Amino acid sequence: MLSIVVLISGRGSNLQALINALGSAGNIQFSAVIASRDDAAGLQYAQQAEIPTATVSRREFADTDSFSTALKQEIEQSQPALVVLAGFMHILSDEFVQHFADRLINIHPSLLPKFRGLNTHRRAIAEGVTEHGASVHYVNEELDGGPIIAQTIIDVRATDSIDELAARVLAQEHLLYPTVIQWIADGSLQCIDSKITFRGEPLLKPILFESRPETTECV
Ligand code: GAR
Repeated sequence: MLSIVVLISGRGSNLQALINALGSAGNIQFSAVIASRDDAAGLQYAQQAEIPTATVSRREFADTDSFSTALKQEIEQSQPALVVLAGFMHILSDEFVQHFADRLINIHPSLLPKFRGLNTHRRAIAEGVTEHGASVHYVNEELDGGPIIAQTIIDVRATDSIDELAARVLAQEHLLYPTVIQWIADGSLQCIDSKITFRGEPLLKPILFESRPETTECV
């Protein structure tokens, strides 16, 4: 049984997708959902699924270190095997990241290492890229850094608005993140000392999901 704690900051659509896809998987337990804002809308999905919730409000802490320490203490009450950042929008301290090394993952709405940070869809359109997407990665001390596990690539259409592009990427996030966590739960995917193995082999490049009009496949 893989015990997970999910951290959110707002809307929580990725949390909802995880609960829908994995809530009845026999080998995953949602031990807690922790929000960084007490008005995070996504908390409702946890409550509906009867998952314990807590809030560690970022605004109540003066700095990254004190916030991260309080968050670590809250998470460790559940002693999870995996900490899942799902729309969690705050910097975490190096000490936090090192404490959860190899068991802390994040989803980011770009093809990392491109477009770390905020406003990824706006920046993708402004730069005129033809491909965009989402990445799931283990977290290291760099912003949106760490070994990349898997990515979904989508085509950027010439007519895309920021909102249209964001919506298509988000739909792919909702497929990508549960898949990766299921791999971790069933032992297909492991990370030791920041080195990923997938199905018994070292992972030399991100696992690629291509989302073209008719297909979503792992290549
Ligand atoms: C998602 O697009 C997620 O990839 C992104 O925030 C959104 C949260 O949506 N995360 C980051 O940008 C982290 N760097 P959600 O709250 O509906 O899941």
